[in-house]
Amino acid sequence: MIITTAAPARLQGELVMPGDKSISHRAALIGSLARGDTEVQGFLAAQDCLSTLSCLRALGVSAVLRGDRLLIRGGGGVFTAPRKPLDAGNSGTTARLLLGVLAAQQFETTLTGDPSLRKRPMDRVVEPLKRMGAQVEGDGTRLPLRIRGGNLKPLTYTLPVASAQVKSALLLAGLQASGLTVIEEPFPSRNHTELMFEQFGVTVAVAGNRISIEGKQIPVASQVRVPGDISAAAFFLVAGAIVPRAVIKIKDVGINPTRRGIVDLLMEMGADIQIQNRRFWGKEEVADLLVRGGAPLRAITVGGDAIPRVIDEIPILAVAAAHARGVTVIRDAAELRVKESDRIAALARELAKLGAEIEERPDGLVIEGGRPLTGAVVESGGDHRMAMALAVAGLAASGKTTVRGAEAIKISFPAFLSILRSLTC
Ligand code: S3P
Repeated sequence: MIITTAAPARLQGELVMPGDKSISHRAALIGSLARGDTEVQGFLAAQDCLSTLSCLRALGVSAVLRGDRLLIRGGGGVFTAPRKPLDAGNSGTTARLLLGVLAAQQFETTLTGDPSLRKRPMDRVVEPLKRMGAQVEGDGTRLPLRIRGGNLKPLTYTLPVASAQVKSALLLAGLQASGLTVIEEPFPSRNHTELMFEQFGVTVAVAGNRISIEGKQIPVASQVRVPGDISAAAFFLVAGAIVPRAVIKIKDVGINPTRRGIVDLLMEMGADIQIQNRRFWGKEEVADLLVRGGAPLRAITVGGDAIPRVIDEIPILAVAAAHARGVTVIRDAAELRVKESDRIAALARELAKLGAEIEERPDGLVIEGGRPLTGAVVESGGDHRMAMALAVAGLAASGKTTVRGAEAIKISFPAFLSILRSLTC
C-alpha cells in the first residue's frame, strides 16, 4: 500500500489517540495472570496488541475484545499448553514479555514471529530467564525458540541496556518465582509494568534504578483505563509544529515521565506546545496537548538518559530536527538498530531522499536542519513508525511525498491516515 502526503491548506482539529500500545500489552498480560475478570477500556486494537491476545487465547485465556473494550479472565497464573507455536507477529513486546510469563509454566511452548521479529535479539531475555531456571532451546538469540518453564528461582540482575521489555519480562518471571527478584537498569526505562502491578495489587519496591519484586504474588483483577498513546500523538505533535498555522489539540494522552521525552524535547526545540488538564487515570498521568505551528525550531543534542524516554519517537524527532535551525545530534541510541527496522540506517537513507542533510553514526544521527524538504518516493521498510514519520515529513515538503509499504502502519495505529485526513478538511 502507498500513501501520499503534501503541504495541507489547513491542519486543524481536536483528536483522541488510540490506547497506549505498551500499556495495552501489559493490561492483557497482567490481567491474564490475575485472579478474576479484568476490564480494559481503551485497549489498542492494532496488530501488535492483537498478537498478544491471540497468544494468550492459545494459552487457554478467555479474552473478548469489542471495539476498544477488552474483557480478560485471569487464571491466577495457570495456563494450558498451546497446541501449536505461538506467533508474536511483528511485536517485540509480545515476544519478550510473554517469555517472562512462560518461564514459569511447566509445559513447552514454541514462540515465533514475522521475518522482522525473527531477526531481533532475544538473548537479552533468554539468558537471565535461563538463570532463573527456564529451559530454552533454539539458537537462544533469535526466534523461533522453545521454552519450558518450571519452578523459578529469584534473580538479582543488572540490565546491560535500558530496556523496558527485558525489565518487564524479568518482573513477570519474578512475580511467579519463589523469593525476591531485584532488577537494576542503567537508566530508567518506561515503568508501565511497575505501575500496572500496583494497580493489580502487586507490591513492587522501586529505589532509584533498582526494582524489587517478591515472588508468588497473585495479581487481583482490576479495571484499567488506557491513556491515549503518546507514541501515536508524537506524529501529530510534530506535524503541528512544522506546518505553519496548524492548531491541533490531542486529548487524554499518557504523559508518564518515562515516556514523554518527545514533548520535553520538542518544547526545548522551541515548539509551541501546551500541556493542559493534567490528571491521573489509575497510576498513569494523562493530559491534553495543544500544539500550534509556526514557532521556529532550534537544533538540540539528545543522548544518555533522555534516549529511553524517546526511543520510539526518534523517527519523528528526526523529521522535526530536519526543520530545526542548527545541527541536531542524536547519540547513545544504538538500540535503534534492532527495532522493527534498523531505524538509524532507514532514517539516514529515507530523509536524504527528501533532501535532508543527515548523517548516520554507529549510535545515532547528525542532522543539519533548516534546508527545505522536497517531496519524493520513500520506503517504510515494513516499519510502522518509519511509515508515519515519512508521511508527516511530506506535510512540510514541497510537492508530493509517496510512502511505500504504508500497510505497516496497522501494526500500531490503523486510524493514522483517517485522523490525518480529518485535520486537513
Ligand atoms: C516497549 C519498550 C521499548 C520500545 C517498544 C515498547 C515496551 O523497547 O521500543 O516499542 O512496551 O516495553 P525496549 O524495551 O527493547 O527498549
